[in-house]
Amino acid sequence: MKIQKVGVIGCGLMGSGIAQTCAQAGYTTIVREISQPLLDKGTTRIYGAWEKMASKEKITKAQLTENRDRLHGTLNIEDLADCDIVIEAVLENMEEKLRLFPALDHILKPEALLLTNTSSLNITQMGAVTRRADKICGLHFFNPAPVMKLVEVVKTISTSEETIETVKQFAVSLGKTPVLAKDTAGFIVNFLLIPYLLAAIRMLENGAATREDIDTAMKLGCGYPMGPFTLLDYVGLDTTLWAAEAIYEEYKDPLYAPSPLLRRMVQSGQYGRKSGKGFYDYK
Ligand SMILES: NC(=O)c1ccc[n+]([C@@H]2O[C@H](COP(=O)([O-])OP(=O)(O)OC[C@H]3O[C@@H](n4cnc5c(N)ncnc54)[C@H](O)[C@@H]3O)[C@@H](O)[C@H]2O)c1
Repeated sequence: MKIQKVGVIGCGLMGSGIAQTCAQAGYTTIVREISQPLLDKGTTRIYGAWEKMASKEKITKAQLTENRDRLHGTLNIEDLADCDIVIEAVLENMEEKLRLFPALDHILKPEALLLTNTSSLNITQMGAVTRRADKICGLHFFNPAPVMKLVEVVKTISTSEETIETVKQFAVSLGKTPVLAKDTAGFIVNFLLIPYLLAAIRMLENGAATREDIDTAMKLGCGYPMGPFTLLDYVGLDTTLWAAEAIYEEYKDPLYAPSPLLRRMVQSGQYGRKSGKGFYDYK
C-alpha cells in the first residue's frame, strides 16, 4: 500500500509533534482539532519548530516552505476521508476514543489504516467498534515526537500482518525505529519504566535518600541521561499515574500500584514541568 496522505486527530502536545514529523518526512498531512484556537495553537507550535530549525540551518528556507505547504489544519473530520493512514492523538480517555473510532471508520476509505497513539488504553477494544479491526493498531510515539527515535507498533489480536508490515515501513520512513509489542497494558517501555519510577517515589516516601541523591545515583551509577524524579517531572505525574493505574488494573501486580505520594501530588495539581511544580520547582 502506498501512503501519500496522513491524517492526525488532535493537535495537542503529541498530535502536533506527530503532524510535524509526518509533514517534514514528505507526507501531505491534515490535522484535525475541535476548535480554531486549539488548532491555531498547535499549528503555531509546528511552524515555530520549523522556523527554529531553519534559523539553525537544519533545514533550508525552501524546505521550510515545502513543510508548511504539506501541512493542513481542519475542524472538519470529513476532510480526512481520502487519507491512507490516520493517527489518533486525542486525550487519553476511552469514551472519547470509542466515539471517534466508529466515526472515522465510517468516513475513511475501506483500505485506510487507523492507528492510535494511546499510551495505556486497550486498542483491541477500539478496533472492535469498527468494521476494520484488521487495519487497526497502535503507533506509540514518545515525547517530543519529532525528536524521540522510538515508536512502539502495537498489534492487537485482530491486526493483520499486512497492517503491521505497512506501519513498520511507515515508521521507518518517518525516521523512527519501530519495535513490535502486543496489546497488553504498558506495551514495552511503560511496563518496564513504571515500576522503576514508582520504586523511586517509595524510596523517597520511606526517607531512604533525598530526591537529589536518588537522581544523581541513577544518572552516574547507571549512565541514565536523567534520574527518576527529573524524568517523572518531564513525563508528567498525571500521565505516570494514569499509566500505572492502567497496568495495575490489568495485572493487579503491586509493582504497579501508585503510591500515596504520587496520587496526592496529582490531586494537588503538581504535575511536573507542565504545571511549574512536581518533585522540583520550575517557577
Ligand atoms: N503526553 C505524552 O507524553 C504522551 C506520550 C505518548 C502518547 N501519549 C498519548 O497521546 C494522546 C494525546 O496526548 P497529549 O499529551 O497530546 O494530550 P493533549 O491534551 O495535549 O492533546 C489532546 C488534543 O486532542 C484534542 N481533541 C480532543 N478530542 C478531539 C477530537 N474528537 N478531534 C480532534 N481533536 C480532539 C484536544 O482538544 C487536545 O488539543 C493520548 O492518548 C496520550 O496517552 C501522550
